[in-house]
Amino acid sequence: MSILVTGGAGFIGSNFVLDWLSVSDESVINLDKLTYAGNLENLATLEGKQQHTFVRGDIGDADLITQLLTEHKPRAVINFAAESHVDRSIHGPEDFIQTNIVGTFHLLESVRAYWNELKGEAKNLFRFLHVSTDEVYGSLSKTDPAFSETNRYEPNSPYSASKAASDHLVRAYHHTYGLPVLTTNCSNNYGPYHFPEKLIPLCILNALAGKPLPIYGDGQQVRDWLYVKDHCSAIRRVLEAGRLGEVYNVGGWNEKANLDVVNTLCTILDELQPRADGKPYSTQITFIKDRAGHDRRYAIDASKLEKDLGWKPAETFETGIRKTVQWYLDNQPWVANVSSGAYQDWVNKQYTI
Ligand code: NAD
Ligand code: DAU
Repeated sequence: MSILVTGGAGFIGSNFVLDWLSVSDESVINLDKLTYAGNLENLATLEGKQQHTFVRGDIGDADLITQLLTEHKPRAVINFAAESHVDRSIHGPEDFIQTNIVGTFHLLESVRAYWNELKGEAKNLFRFLHVSTDEVYGSLSKTDPAFSETNRYEPNSPYSASKAASDHLVRAYHHTYGLPVLTTNCSNNYGPYHFPEKLIPLCILNALAGKPLPIYGDGQQVRDWLYVKDHCSAIRRVLEAGRLGEVYNVGGWNEKANLDVVNTLCTILDELQPRADGKPYSTQITFIKDRAGHDRRYAIDASKLEKDLGWKPAETFETGIRKTVQWYLDNQPWVANVSSGAYQDWVNKQYTI
């Protein structure tokens, strides 16, 4: 038995592959295009492991997907592959449309053809699990209840609109063709191997490098934070026991304002690796121009997943963020390699005034 994972060299996908192979003997076929966000170093500990096969390729390449499905006969496809960075989608939405919408469509078509040919038990057991985001639900006011699975879709960025479109396609393939799909919509992940263009790793690395910690607008935008390993356990659980065609929200019950998140990082760094001049890292906090169309608040109600499937996050924000800061301190070679050419170009484009 095997599973096909797409986007398994990215932040969450690589954590998922590592997590899967630490608890299961079942092989993983890992398909990833290796865009700027895909990093094979995340998977370095799997070198020589027979249960892991890496293939560089595009989810939109129907011939390749068909070949992989025919050759490996996976019992599930888990789709992490996407363009995932909101700011990049504002600067240039086209790749988001291409991968998140057109790519997902081609992937669904190839998977549908494969599933149609399966027989008996193999057909009954097959699953297509699509990994999506809370951003499809839009923005909440301070007093609105958290997003549930029945919230209306109101995506506000090209990124979230492209993810919303992919969710709708996945849903339609279940209703129209009976494809056995599951969808998860989760909140902001954080943890090891997080590419340093996103808030938490960016601020850890900038703090250590003596650079400004850029806060968009007033820093009072609220996100729910989910430790990435908790997300991995949630996906395993949904794959195992989720009801076909259902959507499950995944969250950490950790709503925090961005400024509070960055202040917490600074306090942990003050303790673990104090600045040479003895000043707190928070003195590096710098308020900059807000993100265009910046959503004010996201919050996830994960009670369906907890009640129906018995999943709960293992980490609080306090335990997860401490582990994350420690991971970045302990993995300087990974940090040095990821902070190379292409990433620096992006940082220059985004942060020079
Ligand atoms: P990421 O950007 O770190 O990784 C995405 C991976 O997909 C990369 O390895 C990239 O090379 C690969 N990829 C991109 N286009 C591809 C294509 N056309 N074909 C094959 N591979 C391709 O993203 P992430 O943070 O790991 O997010 C994974 C998934 O989870 C995405 O679908 C994202 O929308 C969703 N999600 C992420 C978060 C979060 O906080 N990071 C939260 C909610 C949902
Ligand atoms: O909510 C889930 C989403 O979380 C996922 O769907 C996306 O794929 C993932 O990238 C993430 O999106 P965000 O836009 O929330 O993540 P980011 O780390 O870019 O930003 C988190 C918050 O911090 C957001 O309110 C913007 C703010 N921010 C971000 C950066 C990079 C800053 O204030 N300064 C920054 O430099």
